[in-house]
Amino acid sequence: MGMLDADGRILEMRLDFTSGLPEREEFEPGIRRAPNRGQLLNESEIVLALKNALRYIPEKFHSDITPEFLAEYRELGRIYGYRFRPAGKITGRPIDQYKGRCVEGRAFQVMIDNNLDFDVALYPYELVTYGETGQVCQNWMQYLLIKKYLEILTQDQTLVIQSGHPLGVFASRPDAPRVILTNGLMIGSFDTAEGFARAAALGVANYGQMTAGGWMYIGPQGIVHGTYNTLLNAGRMKFGESAENVLGGRLFVSSGLGGMSGAQPKAAEIAGAVSIIAEVDPSRVETRYSQGWVSKRTNDLGEAFSWADVAMSSKQAISIAYGGNVVDLLRYALENGKHIDLLSDQTSCHAVYEGGYCPSGTSFEERTRLLNRDPLDFRRRVDLSLREHFELIKAHAAKGTYFFDYGNSFMKAVFDSGVREIAKNGRDTFDGFIFPSYVEDIMGPLLFDYGYGPFRWVCLSGDPADLHATDKAAMDCIDPSRRFQDHDNWAWIRDAEKNNLVVGTQARILYQDEEGRVRIALKFNEMVRRGQIGPVMLGRDHHDVSGTDSPFRETANIKDGGNIMAEMAIHCFAGNCARGMSLAALHNGGGVGTGKAINGGFGLVLDGSKRADAIIRSSMSWDVISGVARRAWARNGHAMETANEFNARRDDCHITLPFVADEDYLADLVRQINAKI
Ligand SMILES: NC(=O)c1ccc[n+]([C@@H]2O[C@H](COP(=O)([O-])OP(=O)(O)OC[C@H]3O[C@@H](n4cnc5c(N)ncnc54)[C@H](O)[C@@H]3O)[C@@H](O)[C@H]2O)c1
Repeated sequence: MGMLDADGRILEMRLDFTSGLPEREEFEPGIRRAPNRGQLLNESEIVLALKNALRYIPEKFHSDITPEFLAEYRELGRIYGYRFRPAGKITGRPIDQYKGRCVEGRAFQVMIDNNLDFDVALYPYELVTYGETGQVCQNWMQYLLIKKYLEILTQDQTLVIQSGHPLGVFASRPDAPRVILTNGLMIGSFDTAEGFARAAALGVANYGQMTAGGWMYIGPQGIVHGTYNTLLNAGRMKFGESAENVLGGRLFVSSGLGGMSGAQPKAAEIAGAVSIIAEVDPSRVETRYSQGWVSKRTNDLGEAFSWADVAMSSKQAISIAYGGNVVDLLRYALENGKHIDLLSDQTSCHAVYEGGYCPSGTSFEERTRLLNRDPLDFRRRVDLSLREHFELIKAHAAKGTYFFDYGNSFMKAVFDSGVREIAKNGRDTFDGFIFPSYVEDIMGPLLFDYGYGPFRWVCLSGDPADLHATDKAAMDCIDPSRRFQDHDNWAWIRDAEKNNLVVGTQARILYQDEEGRVRIALKFNEMVRRGQIGPVMLGRDHHDVSGTDSPFRETANIKDGGNIMAEMAIHCFAGNCARGMSLAALHNGGGVGTGKAINGGFGLVLDGSKRADAIIRSSMSWDVISGVARRAWARNGHAMETANEFNARRDDCHITLPFVADEDYLADLVRQINAKI
């Protein structure tokens, strides 16, 4: 195993240079490439960035490799170390095909490689999985070294990773995490988009998004179920609780066919709606169309709306990709009297000036050129476009459209472009925005407060039969008559295979609450124990009940003033480490941008052992219920209900519950006293 002696002790952990520097491979044509992230460093900082990257490479090769690293920085604003990327297509292979001294070490290699698959990742050569900037690690030297560590990792060690850099393996114990990783965590006063961009250019900070740097991305399927839940519940809220096919004949409009946003047409179609999704990048339209994630595509708005009209009149569910800018789409709809029922946006506004939002009147190619040539002009165009975008949304909302922010920092970006009017108090963002975020109206009260969130699993054997068996087993664990959410989840998993959701590894997403997740996990572990299926990786999106503190998204419905605190996510992470999750991750930024969220996730490998059963019972439960407890303390009604029920069910745990003051009485009293002063 290379770096070990005959007794399995580690001799040294370095990249392998026995045959010199690796050959530099050609880039495969047709694979999307990341834009230039800007030239942010001065001369001495460029020297520092080069020195940092060279830490992975023996001194005798420095003069050969440095010009190449410098050229990468000049061309892309980052040093990716392309030469160290293994040639060809990387893909999450069956676990048996990986080397390793423990099942977790092999399992995480499957996950990492899936995150970098050409079919899965947004910019695979730049290690970006999704969300414009969400990377597995910073460069290919780190990738190789992480893989080496995972190959030698044992049950008595923990691998520590900081912003993609493997710091080393350290002695621990079998029921401690095998991997603890953090991404982009910064000291408060440097914790800004600018501070992060400089640190990333220096090679000391990685933007992990959520499941990119947490190695838990499962393709756009990961977001389909949440989007389906959001649309269905938005429909119920706006068009009638009891309607059979609540979205039949209704039009949903949004933008983005990227990593996560690409889930929108599929989710809308499963929910029974007609959808038109705008996308400026032709390659992404093609990808989603060829994967069957969108059923029709056109660059002509007249054609898009006429297809939509026909489908709406027959209540047929179809999804249409419009190859163009969402602002043009909204303007066209307004000028031509086209009514939109549900409206959202999923451009990458968390990275709005880094290319995440393409301004109207600027083609996708021009956007990429401007990012390189004239970032200030690009910024000006983005601000202008966001302001028009806002005016158009307002005009549609005035005609009865329900607009909701879909967790991409869109409203914050509009505010930052100079539109004070989008803030509720017209001044700052402390009181939120005039349009609801989907967490405030839908996902928070109806799902997170009960503990339902984006639980997922990957069948590490790579065998579709394992996924089929786990789907069936999960369905058997759900009582569809308990709550409407359980019914929705049961129907989801019943139809999941038919809906053809897999891109990359054999994975499944299923929103579940605390009880449901524990029950399903124990069931799967038993199936592994009996040899009915191969090992399984459990995980979740960080975008969950407990995993993320983010005032513009996950904690938007925490209204006790504590939505600006990051303690829930940090405790969730610490508790997951203490309880022995196989991997625990903590990140800055996530879906909304640096300094705007702290988010964490986990991976738990089911190997059929009794040890895994014990970890499931304590950590899977903690991972969900800690967030329910926090939400209950914020006086969220459904969370208090769930916490009460948990307290009654468990005599080994207890959640502190609040007394609820009468707000009208308090407001009156304060008004009266203030009047007297
Ligand atoms: N709500 C959630 O649960 C959730 C989950 C994940 C991500 N997000 C957020 O959603 C956003 C999108 O995520 P993603 O992974 O799809 O990112 P992405 O960058 O892969 O996709 C965004 C897409 O929007 C397109 N686009 C940009 N400007 C446009 C415009 N004006 N008109 C039409 N198309 C335009 C881009 O070409 C790109 O394909 C991110 O900000 C992400 O953080 C939300």
